[in-house]
Amino acid sequence: MDSFEFNKIAGALLASVLVIIGVQHLAGIIYHTESADPLTYPVEVAAEGQSGGAADKPAEVVIPFTQLLASADASKGAKVFKKCASCHTLPEGGKDGTGPNLYGVVGREVGHSNGFAYSPAMAALGGTWTFDRLNEFLTKPKAFLPGTKMGFAGIKKPQQRADLVAFLNNEGSNLPIPAANEAVAPVVEAGETVEVPAVETETTP
Ligand code: HEC
Repeated sequence: MDSFEFNKIAGALLASVLVIIGVQHLAGIIYHTESADPLTYPVEVAAEGQSGGAADKPAEVVIPFTQLLASADASKGAKVFKKCASCHTLPEGGKDGTGPNLYGVVGREVGHSNGFAYSPAMAALGGTWTFDRLNEFLTKPKAFLPGTKMGFAGIKKPQQRADLVAFLNNEGSNLPIPAANEAVAPVVEAGETVEVPAVETETTP
């Protein structure tokens, strides 16, 4: 029975060698799987995060005001101006109301409607009403100019402000809309590659 014993021992040894090899192989599989996972997950999370963000936020937050202006709709701005009309007149020579007449206010000197009693804060502000300044002021007047007596909460939606300022610009100012994306513009006409559809849409009506 020696050879049978030997066979049993040899078989047992072979079996354990196989088990050891098997465990190592299995460990290798597990190890590789585990190392692959941490690599995979962050990529997926980052990709989802980016696509989610790109879909929602930049549309509201990132678009520069000049770009919104380039595609602004002055006729929509006329409707937004109804919020202002209780205090402001627009026609040339129109009377000051609770607020000053706003004819040609884009590019006009701040606090210079003849005879209107501005707040000390507004009277001291200086400069002119540029597109960007109007945008900031109309976002939240009291944040832009603490001490202003303009009793108006502000217009939250950037596109509404752009439409409104485009409308105001048509009422006596008619200043050229600043080029959108000036960082891209230096390549002469390259600034228009992105903006051409918007500009055409705006010019046609
Ligand atoms: C409740 C009345 C009221 C409303 C509504 C109102 N304003 Fe005014 N606005 C004023 C007053 C008052 C001033 C003068 C502020 C000061 O002297 O601090 C003013 C000043 C201004 C100025 C500065 C004018 C200048 O001569 O320097 C601008 C521009 C302006 N308003 C635009 C608007 C627009 C656009 C809206 C509508 C989105 C609006 N306002 C809504 C009362 C109002």
